[in-house]
Amino acid sequence: MRTVSLEGQGGFSEWRDAARRLLVDAVAPEQVRWQLSGQGGDLFGVVGEPEPGQTAPSELVVPKSFIEAAEAAICHSDPDRFSLLYRILWRLQSERSLLQVTSDADVSHVVRLIKNVRRDSHKMKAFVRFREVEAVQAGRRRFVAWFEPEHFIVARTAGFFQRRFTDMDWLIATPKGSAAWNGQELKTSCEPAARPEGEDETDELWRTYFANIFNPARVKIRAMQSEMPKKYWKNMPEASLIPDLIAGAEQRVAEMAARQASQPPAFHERLQAQWRGRDEEEASDLPPLERLRQEASACTLCPLHCHATQTVFGEGPDDADILFVGEQPGDTEDLAGRPFIGPAGKIFDEAVEGAGIDRTQVYVTNAVKHFKYERRGKRRIHMRPDAGEVAHCRWWVAKEIEIIQPRIVVALGATAYLSLTGESRPIAEVRGMPIPMQESRMLLVTTHPAAILRMPDEDLKARSLAAFRSDIQDVRRLAETLPAL
Ligand code: URA
Repeated sequence: MRTVSLEGQGGFSEWRDAARRLLVDAVAPEQVRWQLSGQGGDLFGVVGEPEPGQTAPSELVVPKSFIEAAEAAICHSDPDRFSLLYRILWRLQSERSLLQVTSDADVSHVVRLIKNVRRDSHKMKAFVRFREVEAVQAGRRRFVAWFEPEHFIVARTAGFFQRRFTDMDWLIATPKGSAAWNGQELKTSCEPAARPEGEDETDELWRTYFANIFNPARVKIRAMQSEMPKKYWKNMPEASLIPDLIAGAEQRVAEMAARQASQPPAFHERLQAQWRGRDEEEASDLPPLERLRQEASACTLCPLHCHATQTVFGEGPDDADILFVGEQPGDTEDLAGRPFIGPAGKIFDEAVEGAGIDRTQVYVTNAVKHFKYERRGKRRIHMRPDAGEVAHCRWWVAKEIEIIQPRIVVALGATAYLSLTGESRPIAEVRGMPIPMQESRMLLVTTHPAAILRMPDEDLKARSLAAFRSDIQDVRRLAETLPAL
């Protein structure tokens, strides 16, 4: 009998090294006892001669799908995970299609573990609540959060928080490890962490926010309880409101009916959809742009998401040469979920087509991904996003550029220019000359097509339209002359 002692919680690479040595030594799964250090046993017990009666495989079979499955399953807290994975690896040497046999007991066991791990990871993404604490680095805000996962998912899920909250320093402490980001380095530890103390005004903000988005007419208590189990409530400041809000839901529905139905808060629906188990972990299989689109669909970085119908993400090939950035979706785009398809989109399309550019070959996006408007009667009137809203959304635009790597970026108007450069300048000052960006990319600036539509003077309108079309022709000419990046 061999005893393998793994450090800490038993990470994937340590298990993999031990499993490889066991396999080379032809040690059958039933001959191995897996344990975590501190439980006694012989750390070096895995090295030795092949077991009598067993022959070492000449070439190890380790399919990529097994590695992916093992990396997820090993995060489960099931004490049998190490032996289960080794048994599957052992069997794979002779049963190459084993992982496709979903009725097999070992395979269905590992599938169950992976599902639980993904679910736990999803819950962590949805239910971590940061509290602001005193900054240690000038100019950077610092946040801490306490979360109680069921499995060892902190390191696995930390990348999500690094991508989402890159501008702030944060620490997520859990009894199953911790993760910390300081703007440069993501550190993870599997040591149990201590719970950060205290409550701050962010908690009150969460409660106000939740009370506002709570729609009593749409509350499905069973679904809510299954997707947001009570065990998470104690670490979520807004959860203290839930019992009262649910208890008062019936009366509030009656009051709402008496007042006539108002529009359901769009964000609440999306939150519910997330709770229904949209598993962002699965998004890791998607191409980067699709994955970004999916992440953006749940963006709550600024309050605009509360009233918009949906995130309107960019559209076009992920290797487009030219990337156009507008301001924000309009009424039509907000309802359809696609950029530049309303009246401004028509002007844009005509100019692009007139310049000999194929719209399906360019990428079109906006500086701000949610529609900002003011309601006047039944109409929703466009409002310009402010600098804070643009700043919140810059992250998405930068990511789109990073993935697509266009040679030319075109700013349609001052908001797009602000998003792309961080500078607030009148368009007339920056229009007409290509501006070098990072990585030999060129930025061209022109007016926003909606600004042309709003011009009251017909003569001015015609001249602005001609100038806009001419700018778009310059874009095509530049595209023809610029070398590939
Ligand atoms: N205006 C924009 O800036 N973007 C759109 O998608 C539509 C109108």
